Amino acid sequence: MARFSYLLLPLLLWQCHTAVEEIPISGPAYSGPLTYTGGDRFARTERTIALGQKLFNDPNLSIDSTISCASCHKADAYFSDPGKALSVGLEGTPTQRNASALVNLAWHPYFFAEGGVRNLELSSFVPINNRHEFGRELHDVVEGLMEDPCYVLEFSEAFGSQPISDAQFVTALAHYMAGLQHYDSPYDQWLSGDSRALGPDAHIGLELFETHCTSCHSGPQLSSFAIATNGLPTNADYGRMNLTNNAEDSGAFKIPTLRGIALTYPYMHDGSYADLDTVLRTYNKVRALGLTGKELAHLKAFLNTLH
Ligand code: HEC
Ligand code: HEC
Repeated sequence: MARFSYLLLPLLLWQCHTAVEEIPISGPAYSGPLTYTGGDRFARTERTIALGQKLFNDPNLSIDSTISCASCHKADAYFSDPGKALSVGLEGTPTQRNASALVNLAWHPYFFAEGGVRNLELSSFVPINNRHEFGRELHDVVEGLMEDPCYVLEFSEAFGSQPISDAQFVTALAHYMAGLQHYDSPYDQWLSGDSRALGPDAHIGLELFETHCTSCHSGPQLSSFAIATNGLPTNADYGRMNLTNNAEDSGAFKIPTLRGIALTYPYMHDGSYADLDTVLRTYNKVRALGLTGKELAHLKAFLNTLH
């Protein structure tokens, strides 16, 4: 008997070692191919995700310990900043743009309105460096964490090595953000084959949406993720041209997802459209869609099924 348990010991130890299971990123069958699968450096586990969540909510990462990612990305509104055209950054200064919703990011091919960042892990550099957001260098943030014994322990438990590295930091945040998924709206039920998930108004709205909007807001994320100009008047912002210096990119932006759109107001890169009625009325006029008031109401009923 004693000999039997002795033989089992290596197996038990091996099981302990692998007790922290890898948590793959996945969505429903219709969600399409992932653009981020967790990176190839570290396994995505409960620990790396929990650490990412803690970092996301920690104001001590900003230069004056006042601002966390969650200050501008609110969990109850698809991680947007509802009601604020521009968010409040360091020392009360406004951000340059309206805070994006963070939803199903593991399916986005790139990030930010001009589409300049192609990897979810690298996306954290932008708010950390931005003078309105954290106002810091990533490396200084990581050095600061090394003075906190809790973080030192949590990082070494999550990543199995010391000291804390910049790569571990951005991976933890990306592992957390990749889990900010929403596939439980009435529209998702409809996509999964439940034909009764959309009411009659929303159903007519979907048909209008397919005629007038899906050239840009297509597929399960309600965006082709192309960089485009929608023609709606907004405040001056060169958009993609900031990156390319190419005049034809002036005013072109990443086509945003419309998931959760009813909750992520106000709208557009500058937040200059207060509500969906204003957005729809303006699209109708600027793009000469010729829709009646009733049809606009149907379109809105459809947009309301996206959360
Ligand atoms: C002071 C407000 C503020 C803070 C703090 C902030 N963000 Fe943002 N975030 C924004 C704004 C504004 C945008 C849109 C910027 C743009 O498109 O140029 C944005 C966009 C993003 C995007 C791109 C989303 C997309 O669909 O392209 C990601 C990812 C993101 N933020 C992650 C973070 C993370 C991670 C943190 C913390 C390290 C953070 N943000 C902190 C305001 C903020
Ligand atoms: C030519 C491509 C194109 C078409 C067609 C188009 N859009 Fe857009 N849409 C965009 C772009 C690009 C933006 C982002 C513009 C900005 O940030 O200023 C946008 C933004 C939006 C927003 C605001 C999203 C947010 O998070 O702020 C809504 C709502 C919207 N579109 C709905 C629609 C509807 C409804 C239709 C059809 C009537 C439509 N769009 C047709 C490209 C398009």
